[in-house]
Amino acid sequence: MATIFPNGFVWGAATASYQIEGAANEDGRGESIWDRFSHTPGNVLNGDTGDVADDHYHRWPQDVALMQSLGLKAYRFSIAWPRVIPDGIGAVNAAGLDFYDRLVDGLLAAGIEPFVTLYHWDLPQALQDRGGWPNRDSVAWFADYVAVVSRRLSDRVRYWITHNEPWVVAFVGHLMGVHAPGMRDPKAALQAAHHLLLSHGQAVSILRRNGNGAQVGITLNLSWVDPASDRPADIEAARRQDGYVNRMFLDPVFKGSYPSDFMELCGDLAPRIEEGDLQQISAPIDFLGVNYYSRSVVADDPNIPILRARAVLPPEAEYTEMGWEVYPEGLYRLLRRLQEDYAPGALYITENGAAFADRVEDGRVHDERRVAYLREHFAAAWRAIQEGVPLRGYFVWSLLDNFEWAYGYSKRFGIVYVDYATQERILKDSALFYRDVIAANGLP
Ligand code: FCB
Repeated sequence: MATIFPNGFVWGAATASYQIEGAANEDGRGESIWDRFSHTPGNVLNGDTGDVADDHYHRWPQDVALMQSLGLKAYRFSIAWPRVIPDGIGAVNAAGLDFYDRLVDGLLAAGIEPFVTLYHWDLPQALQDRGGWPNRDSVAWFADYVAVVSRRLSDRVRYWITHNEPWVVAFVGHLMGVHAPGMRDPKAALQAAHHLLLSHGQAVSILRRNGNGAQVGITLNLSWVDPASDRPADIEAARRQDGYVNRMFLDPVFKGSYPSDFMELCGDLAPRIEEGDLQQISAPIDFLGVNYYSRSVVADDPNIPILRARAVLPPEAEYTEMGWEVYPEGLYRLLRRLQEDYAPGALYITENGAAFADRVEDGRVHDERRVAYLREHFAAAWRAIQEGVPLRGYFVWSLLDNFEWAYGYSKRFGIVYVDYATQERILKDSALFYRDVIAANGLP
């Protein structure tokens, strides 16, 4: 059977504000936690910052033309909160909102559906100074910001994503200290997770109120988790890991409760939850956004605090430049599992892609491993659709090479190569492959 996707399948590409925009000090933009974090020595590889990035803030018309040349049906981008409200709360910066207004108009004129992420990690620094996400006030700050953006754009934007990967925000930012704001505090991390979820729930009702037929979802980074062996101890470790990365976010959103096994593990570290919170968090959503890159294989390890699970790298596997195993089967299994356990009304892959060490040769980038990665993951998604999973679209991460957080510019995820010295864009072979996939609505 030919690998053809359902009619109207939404083929897209994704980016995020801090990773591509640059223009960090222009038109009244305020400071974000990623500005502060990346400018603090030792946090980002090679001292890279998002000050210039892909200069998309100025080059967006060209970038939209590029998307159009690939035939993209949709584009997922995020809004920089400190561009819109420089101090996080209070005065709105008209120039900041105008930028997104123009971008949305430009996309629509090119026949590209905007999918807007409201929070992709660039919290205004002024709000971090007031305690950031571990402070319960963050829920109200976010609600005000969401109201401002949706009042301006919801006459044209239909698809909204409240948060991108709250697990990463909470734990990589507040427990591991690897992302902004660089904290290492388990209690703060769990409290941040709860506030991110609560702010998601409130945003859902604001977006519905302001938007005519708004389609609202949340994007979670989800893994397929396998035990390192069939020893019962490893199987239990995999269950704990699943609680931490997957169920801790899926259960409250879809079932209105936190997973009790994971909460018991947390003990005194468990977040403070007020009455009514879980009801708000579980406000019905229209779709679940799934970011899938790899699976997670874990072994029981009593020396690891709380989780007692250790990541294991299968020796025979293929790995990307991030050190992530290439495992398309995990996408298929994850989608089937989501359908079985949570039955979301619709699903989008909001990110999937891979970093490889790309080289420009005679003006071309022959990134055959990325082509293979995408082909295999598209095929896995297609199998899940055949079996009834309501997957409506697929966003490749990323449209452009960009600022890969703590790795700076050293990891290239784009299907379009960016020469950072000249800001020249070069379509990689994967972009040409994707163009053909979109044209055929399936694997050619
Ligand atoms: C995800 C992020 C995205 C990008 C990819 C590689 O965790 O959402 O911004 O960095 O990883």
